[in-house]
Amino acid sequence: MEEQKLTVEEFVERSRELPRHHLDFRRLGLNGKILDIGAGGEGVIGQMYPDSIGIDPDRLELEESPAKQLKIVMDGRDLQFLDETFNTVTIFFTMMYIHHDDHLKVFQEAYRVLKPGGELHLWYLQMGESNEETYGLILPLEIELPKGMIQTGYGAKWDRRQDDETFSELGKVAEFDLKKVELNGETGWIRFIKR
Ligand SMILES: C[S@@+](CC[C@H](N)C(=O)[O-])C[C@H]1O[C@@H](n2cnc3c(N)ncnc32)[C@H](O)[C@@H]1O
Repeated sequence: MEEQKLTVEEFVERSRELPRHHLDFRRLGLNGKILDIGAGGEGVIGQMYPDSIGIDPDRLELEESPAKQLKIVMDGRDLQFLDETFNTVTIFFTMMYIHHDDHLKVFQEAYRVLKPGGELHLWYLQMGESNEETYGLILPLEIELPKGMIQTGYGAKWDRRQDDETFSELGKVAEFDLKKVELNGETGWIRFIKR
């Protein structure tokens, strides 16, 4: 029997039934001047680090995010900052919203704006092979910050494998050194360093 495709509404409904995936950010310990790429949505990094700068090409996403950081409408593929501006760049559940053909460009831009010794922190969903028609089933997330819990969930559509191996490889192509990979169920957290 042919598998029936879910509508977006059905997909979102089904996602709600899944158990919440837990991320503990109470002792995240990001350093220095922080740039968050894809700062819309919940603005998790901005909520945790109000002195950070958040960029996102979608003005409405930035306006609606509860974070109090400095928000700038900007595309992660074409950052308007000078070289070696930041100590830390974060990309929190954003790569699945950017076409895979552009992922390397985002890595290269993150590399460019980081100071030597700076770190790129990437949180992402481990996603296997798929196709354009398929909506990725995204786990609802709960993120524990020092000030309390954020409950959310991010949907995604993808057509190519995106996981620890593919992202580690892209990071290396962009000249990052891999510092640490942590897998937590369907999510991953990769830390890269610019030597
Ligand atoms: C699921 S949201 C990110 C979640 C967010 N980091 C949070 O803390 O809730 C994905 C974001 O990626 C943004 N995005 C899409 N294309 C982008 C690009 N080229 N550069 C930067 N951000 C992009 C979207 O506008 C959206 O706000």
